[in-house]
Formats: sequence, structure tokens, C-alpha cells
Amino acid sequence: MAPRRIGIATGGGDCPGLNAVLRAAAVRCHTLGIELLGIESGFDGLLGVGDARVLPLTVEATADLLDRGGTALGTTSRGNPLRWRDGAGAFVDRGDEVVASARTRGIEVVISVGGDGTQRISAELHRRGLPMVGVPKTIDNDLACTFESLGFPTAVQIVTDALDRLRTTAEAHHRVIIVEVMGRDAGWIALEAGIAGGADAIIVPEVPHDGAALAAAVAARLARPRPHAIVVVAEGARRPVRDASASPGAAVAVARGLAAALPHAELRVTTLGHLQRGGTPTAADRLLASRCGVEAVDLAARGEVGVLLTWQPPDIVAVPLEPDAIVTRGVDPDSQLVRHARELGISFGDTGP
Ligand code: F6P
Repeated sequence: MAPRRIGIATGGGDCPGLNAVLRAAAVRCHTLGIELLGIESGFDGLLGVGDARVLPLTVEATADLLDRGGTALGTTSRGNPLRWRDGAGAFVDRGDEVVASARTRGIEVVISVGGDGTQRISAELHRRGLPMVGVPKTIDNDLACTFESLGFPTAVQIVTDALDRLRTTAEAHHRVIIVEVMGRDAGWIALEAGIAGGADAIIVPEVPHDGAALAAAVAARLARPRPHAIVVVAEGARRPVRDASASPGAAVAVARGLAAALPHAELRVTTLGHLQRGGTPTAADRLLASRCGVEAVDLAARGEVGVLLTWQPPDIVAVPLEPDAIVTRGVDPDSQLVRHARELGISFGDTGP
């Protein structure tokens, strides 16, 4: 029998497209006569943390969300109920409380929209008896189970637009602009936006780079007409990336190396930061989000739970929501994509394959 009440939550870092999932789920639930409840701030709403609530997500309440960035439910990267920090700083497991709270509210299935961390939590909550359907999202595109994750297309577009703008000013001043982009430990955003935005060099964690080789590539570009260069650096190309206050960012490290090797070059560093996660989702993200919202509700309605949606073009395909399915992936240095970038003359700061 189809559930009468479904919950939906967004967890981890926000990304463009989350709201479009909420809207699509609300529309599909309405059609099927299922009540949809939004759980605020990851799973916090079910634990009554702060002012996080569980509230009805109706078609009317979600009508304006298709093109809005962020998430109307709010989210958190610190709300792991399985490793909850209590007042004394100790870790406690509140997973069973989440399951009990959902049951008390009559929530029969939870659609959980999140990255690898959120989906691992979802898998465990499912194992403990709260039926789950996972929807992968992350601008980092580092989830191995899916062709592209929700949020990634918009992040690539934002970075591409930024590179277009930065190139005009680099060209005007004959400068080298080193642009740091997000991606956590993976170089997907740097690679795809770097190609789309005409970068001269792309530095990613998956391809070890060498200061001398990068400097040679930049020097070669500066020796050509209209001398300037754009170097895109993935944040993960230098570790640790988590504590920005304790170590210089990846782009600053690259810039220091270039400054030493090319003392006459005029260098500037731009870090795009959270710009990459904000604002209007692209058509590709809206489409993926809308399809995932519908498919997640359809699966829940048929009782096909304990699954993770993956995009295997042209279809959204459900795979078991198990730890084995929730693995991260980086760029394959031997892929056709990297080869094509090299063949376009883009340097990876190495001496080639
Ligand atoms: O995982 C998404 C992401 O934006 C990463 O690219 C980045 O390293 C991290 O989150 C930033 O986290 P926060 O928003 O907590 O600073």
C-alpha cells in the first residue's frame, strides 16, 4: 500500500537544484494523494534542534522554488545524528531518535537529498528501520554511482562565466590570473569549467603537478601574442583544504611557485568560493532535480525503498542504498576527457602522460 505521508530532507552543503527537487516531489505527492512533510536543516527537524521544524510542503508552498538556489528547508553539514556532539563535546548516537520521531509523526518514507556523507547516514537510518530513498547531490561531482550529480552543472557554468570575465581583465593587463575553484578532493569542476572557459592550465589533485612544468607552460603562453594566462586550480590540489585559516589555499600555493619561477610575470589570485554554490540552477540542473523529485516519490509510493537514485543517461536508475554504492571518485587522469583537454593545449602542470 502506498504511504500516506512522506518526509523530505536536504543535508550537507547546499547546491543549486535542491529547491527544484522539493517542488517536483510536492507536485508528484499531490497527484498521488500523499502528504509531503519537509524536514528542516538535514535531520535536525526530526530531533527538534533549535527552531528546526517538520512542516507541510504543499504545491502552493513550493510553487516558486523551481529556479531558486539554496534550499527552502535549510541544511547543515554539522548535523550527523549518528555522531552528535553533546553539550560536553562528546559524540552520541541519536539515530534511533530520528527513526522514532519520524514514526511518531506518521512519516513512512524519507527522501534524503544529499552528498556522500548524508547518504551514508541515510543508509544507516534505513538499516535501523526508517525507509529511505536517497537523491545524490553535490557540486563536487565526486559520487561514483551517478553520471553527474545535482548541482555540478550549475557550478561548472558559474565557473565558466567567471573565467570568461577574468580572461578579459587578464588580457587587458597582460596578467596571469590563478583561479581557485571548489571540488573538495576532486578536480571535476576545475577540469570541466577549465575546458569550457578556455583555461591555459588546469591543476587538479588527480594529476601530480610540478612547479617547473607549470611555469614553462605559463611562460610559453606569455610569449605568444596578447600575453596573459588563466590557470584554474582545484582546491583539493593542495591539502589540507578543510581549514582555510591554517594553510594557504591551493591557488596561493600555485601562485607562490609561479612568482618564484617567473619574477617578471604579474600574478593575481581569485578564489571563487561559495559563489559556485549559489543562485539560479541551470536548465540541466532543474531538469535533473525535477526528474529525481518525481522518481523518488514514485519509488516511495511503490514501496521500493532503501534505494539511491543515480543518473545513468537517459534514465534515472535506482540502486541499493548501501555503503558500497556510496563511494567517491576523482578525475581519471587517463580518461578521454583529460586527453581532450591536453590536445586542446591545456597544461596540467606536468610533463604529459
Ligand atoms: O562539498 C561541497 C563543497 O562546496 C566543497 O566543494 C567545499 O570544499 C566545501 O563544500 C565547502 O564547505 P563549507 O560550505 O562548509 O565551507
